[in-house]
Amino acid sequence: MVPRKVGTAWEVVAPAKLNLYLEVLGKRTDGFHELETLLVPVRIYDQLTWSPSNSLSPSLSTECSLSIESCHPRGGFRPQVSIDPHDNLVTRAAKLLAAKAGLKPHGHFHLVKRIPQEAGLGGGSSDAAATLLLANEAWHAGLSHAELAHLAAELGSDVPYFLNQGPAICRGRGERIEPLGGLPHLHFVVVKPDFGLSTPRVFAELGERGALSSERAEKSASCLSQLIAALNRGAIARACQWMTNRLETAAARLAPEISQIKTTLAQAGCWGQLMTGSGSTLVGVARSANQARRIARQLSAQKLGTVLATSSGW
Ligand code: C5P
Repeated sequence: MVPRKVGTAWEVVAPAKLNLYLEVLGKRTDGFHELETLLVPVRIYDQLTWSPSNSLSPSLSTECSLSIESCHPRGGFRPQVSIDPHDNLVTRAAKLLAAKAGLKPHGHFHLVKRIPQEAGLGGGSSDAAATLLLANEAWHAGLSHAELAHLAAELGSDVPYFLNQGPAICRGRGERIEPLGGLPHLHFVVVKPDFGLSTPRVFAELGERGALSSERAEKSASCLSQLIAALNRGAIARACQWMTNRLETAAARLAPEISQIKTTLAQAGCWGQLMTGSGSTLVGVARSANQARRIARQLSAQKLGTVLATSSGW
């Protein structure tokens, strides 16, 4: 995620993520859950542009504004209609950065939204991180990476991950990032059902009460290291046996379709299948780009929601 200057404007792409592993290690006293998760960025992008003035209403150029365009690329997700620019993470991130840097927010942000909401794909978090990076450049705010990471953690648990590029293990609430090099290119079938799932609702359904359990933490560290070792060896089918998401059972209690789609992905020949984040999107791991496309075509006819073939990318 590197902002690029185009004339007087700045632009950046904001990728979606998939969780290939997610374990809940306990409930914290601040109400959040202690997590251990493996995230990879995928080639599904929102796009954010900042320009010094809004061409539709140039008189607003000393104010900060945001427009959102819901995009429906061919074979992509359905356009989203209910996005409120005032309650958007882009607006919140821009205001937070301006306050920290002692600046007045100005200019016009335009967000092309392709990543669906309540999907577990990190769209809003990725937009927020993109805004911090873009505004830091466009407004010459000069904040350090550490300062941006601090603001990112205030905006949401997944936001700090998106300031970095590439796969990473995230711990704590999600804000402690350990970048991972050397992972192979992976191919996925992504199924986003026509409904979304609210993150707080799925965590509440999990009903976790225990404080951080060291036994669970040790077991999780061991599973995750087996998963990463298998990925590093290129043993993708083996790696899939270690892919798991603790939130999946809770999500499936709220929406039984989750289990049905998982079964469908397995029957279609995916090596592994799991839910990403707090859902509602299911991910199938394919052995090649061709197989991912073939399965996506086959499942598109089954009215499961939106089905896409994609791959890891950074
Ligand atoms: O940090 P974020 O705003 O994305 O979190 C949304 C909600 O998800 C939180 O209010 C909380 O209910 C839940 N959550 C959690 N533990 C985490 C991350 C999120 O309980 N590590």
